[in-house]
Amino acid sequence: MKKFRTGVVGATGYTGVELLRIIDQHPALSLSLVAGSKTAGSPLAASWPGLLDMYPDLMVDALDVGLLAERCDIVFLALPHGVSANVAPDLVEAGLIVVDLGADFRLRDHQVYERFYGAHPKPEWLSRSVYGLTEWSRDALIEARLIANPGCYPTATALAAKPLVDAGWGGHALVANCLSGVSGAGRKPSLRSLFSEVGESAQPYGIAGSHRHGPEIEQTLKMTVSFTPHLVPMSRGMVATVIASPARLPTPAELNECYESAYATSPCVSVRADAPSTRDVRGCARAHVHVALDPDRGLITSVCVIDNLLKGAASQAVQNLNVSLGFDEVAGLPMWPQIV
Ligand SMILES: NC(=O)c1ccc[n+]([C@@H]2O[C@H](COP(=O)([O-])OP(=O)(O)OC[C@H]3O[C@@H](n4cnc5c(N)ncnc54)[C@H](OP(=O)(O)O)[C@@H]3O)[C@@H](O)[C@H]2O)c1
Repeated sequence: MKKFRTGVVGATGYTGVELLRIIDQHPALSLSLVAGSKTAGSPLAASWPGLLDMYPDLMVDALDVGLLAERCDIVFLALPHGVSANVAPDLVEAGLIVVDLGADFRLRDHQVYERFYGAHPKPEWLSRSVYGLTEWSRDALIEARLIANPGCYPTATALAAKPLVDAGWGGHALVANCLSGVSGAGRKPSLRSLFSEVGESAQPYGIAGSHRHGPEIEQTLKMTVSFTPHLVPMSRGMVATVIASPARLPTPAELNECYESAYATSPCVSVRADAPSTRDVRGCARAHVHVALDPDRGLITSVCVIDNLLKGAASQAVQNLNVSLGFDEVAGLPMWPQIV
């Protein structure tokens, strides 16, 4: 099988290293370049000593569009927001397929983008990307050249809520309370991610509509969502718990049928009869979804758990690429959880 030469920019970060793991297992991808910023010019194994035997000599390059165009067919950009916006259009125009794990091409409205991220250098490209929430974007992904990979909170929230919203059971607004492990903030050091700050503590943040993922969630669900993220003391994993107050409550059979049929052909989404835990999907490309009626209060509660670094980032990025290129949707993806 022909192997596509694949570059990972941001390979010394948390989502980048998960991309390396998946590319290594992928039948049609071969790693041709890794790039970073502060680590450029050093061996990859200096950033990831555990990869010394796999990549004894591989050096980290600086981000260079010409070099990427020369050495790659496909590029994953796992970069802080704002960096990809300047380089992804040039890479696409050079003929590469680009999958951006950051936020630079997710939002359609450039004014909303500007409010949360600052001015976009190429706002005309916001409408040229394909938003890759895979389970709901398969047709649009075919032969996509620029894929905007969703954020982790938007992925978990949308997988929990979209079936019930599309069925007309969302009511006038949803409430989404979400929990994230600390790796959601990336590898760069910060006071908030110190063990002594995070351990034995749980912190709501970005409350009352101020978190950047709020508009992305509303763009996907096309309705008002009161979204509150919480940082919790685990390294990886994410929970979205969504409450809906519909005008008419479905029957249990209607609700189950709605979720079963929404994900019947989705190899990365399991609809569960019981409430899942992050442990069930740790290290794994799957999302587990559970939905329940609360007839006494006229509410529906739906829950989704994912690994923020995988279905919330790296595995969904490769899942999107697989759909785009017509491969098996789960080619290369880790489907087994690391349970203990
Ligand atoms: N973490 C998650 O759970 C998660 C989930 C979904 C989406 N995302 C998004 O994915 C992106 C990457 O997140 P992450 O958590 O992997 O971040 P991270 O661990 O902080 O890694 C960032 C990477 O970007 C590189 N980098 C920074 N500025 C650069 C530049 N100007 N040129 C080249 N490389 C540069 C860094 O290289 P050096 O090490 O050399 O500085 C590092 O490899 C972010 O946009 C994030 O919002 C993250």
